Amino acid sequence: MSKPILETRDLAKNFGALAVTDNVNFALAPGARHAIIGPNGAGKTTLINLLTGALSPSSGSVYLAGGDITGMAEYQRVKNGIARTFQINTLFMGLSVIENLYLAISERMGVATSLVRPAGKDSAVMEEAVRILNILKLEEDSLTEIHELPYGRQRLVEIAIALALDPKVLLLDEPAAGVPTTESHIILDAVDSLPKDIAVLIIEHDMDVVFRFAERITVLVRGAILAEGSPDDIAANEEVQAVYLGEGSHD
Ligand SMILES: Nc1ncnc2c1ncn2[C@@H]1O[C@H](COP(=O)(O)OP(=O)(O)OP(=O)(O)O)[C@@H](O)[C@H]1O
Ligand SMILES: [Mg+2]
Repeated sequence: MSKPILETRDLAKNFGALAVTDNVNFALAPGARHAIIGPNGAGKTTLINLLTGALSPSSGSVYLAGGDITGMAEYQRVKNGIARTFQINTLFMGLSVIENLYLAISERMGVATSLVRPAGKDSAVMEEAVRILNILKLEEDSLTEIHELPYGRQRLVEIAIALALDPKVLLLDEPAAGVPTTESHIILDAVDSLPKDIAVLIIEHDMDVVFRFAERITVLVRGAILAEGSPDDIAANEEVQAVYLGEGSHD
């Protein structure tokens, strides 16, 4: 594997006596398509929180492009290229899609902006906003206010905002959670069309999605890595089948 873009060494997190992250040595390659799977409560979200800096580890380290970021604040990690989407909405509901994007890109580029008439003032910002709209096929919703969009498309805008941060790494914790099954394909298609230079780490319970998307899979059980490998390796791993993958659950 090429030098990891994001890596943990002996990472541990305890909540009281509970070891929620148990000596995890994890590496994400640049441009990877990587999934973390594991039962409820396995510590998947906690691991993401340790990677983003939302949580501090009890011990161990986190590295971004080889540099130790264990003590780095969450917002600094974002500036350095680690973006995530949340399981909750963090959008400006009364603003349009393009206005939300425009604000996020302006902030990243350090362009002063006005909330009164933000859209269309700075052509570099606008070009970037349109580029991201295209990637996520949100062009038709550009002028729609967030609260008017179906929930699935709101989740898409969250991914768009994460892209507006110009990330090297995108962490997606159950991006289709709460989205009606009739709409979930919109999210999963968008995840499939993310730019190849961004490393994408996804947590997802739907094994069809995982096995279609991922080139590499890490199985987390009770805070520790049980197995890691290609989708074929993981599908054939008897231990993984025993603890997690039900019969035919990814066919
Ligand atoms: N702030 C906290 N304080 C105490 N225990 C916590 C805290 N956050 C998580 N836990 C516990 O840590 C364990 C792992 O939780 P985590 O949310 O990381 O699991 P998960 O793999 O994301 O599960 P799910 O698939 O249900 O989202 C669980 O037992 C949970 O109850
Ligand atoms: Mg979780």
